[in-house]
Amino acid sequence: MSSMKNNYANNIGILISGRGTNMENIIKACEKDSIPGKVAIVISDNPSAAGIEIAQLHAVPTKIIERKSFSSKEEFESEIIKCLNEHQANLVCLAGFMRILSPVFIRAFSSKIINIHPALLPSFPGLHAQKQALDYGVKIAGATVHFVDEGVDTGPIIIQQIVTIDENDTEESLSQKILEKEHQIYPEAIRLFFEGKLAIEGRKVKISK
Ligand code: GAR
Repeated sequence: MSSMKNNYANNIGILISGRGTNMENIIKACEKDSIPGKVAIVISDNPSAAGIEIAQLHAVPTKIIERKSFSSKEEFESEIIKCLNEHQANLVCLAGFMRILSPVFIRAFSSKIINIHPALLPSFPGLHAQKQALDYGVKIAGATVHFVDEGVDTGPIIIQQIVTIDENDTEESLSQKILEKEHQIYPEAIRLFFEGKLAIEGRKVKISK
């Protein structure tokens, strides 16, 4: 029985702005029960995001909520919160969502918002993380899944994975290498979250066996 296989109390809301490969990867992990939950809603702030159609192909509900439709950031975010609540999301996953969320939003889903970032935080937060790493000349880069706090890419780290940078790496080739790691660690972090194995203690996330 599918209701036995999948714990439908675990509802994920995913926020995207673009391509949606992390989103699709999370949807697929739920479909094959590597994550004990389901993607209840995908929200995009960008009507042209390729991820919207991909979510629909997987029969996942989608909603476009554009910043420009609202006179303030507060109203824009309240609409997102309302939509997440309507779909009973108890975990919010940012997957290439290119906006900074306000403290009000963060508090609405306290310790229930996770982000993926294409760098080994705390190095290279913000935009174009892979280019920042190449320009700096680091030899190792990677991906980080972390809880979202009120800073930019500063929240407690759940999982990181590394890749080595070769001399001939470009922004594209490095981004691709990192993306493969992102696709490994994001579903893993979500699984641990729903299994109740993540405990935030100050800056640290303790993972129980
Ligand atoms: C991913 O590389 C993700 O880590 C990055 O955007 C890409 C989205 O790709 N996120 C950030 O840079 C957030 N600061 P996707 O839409 O194919 O998942």
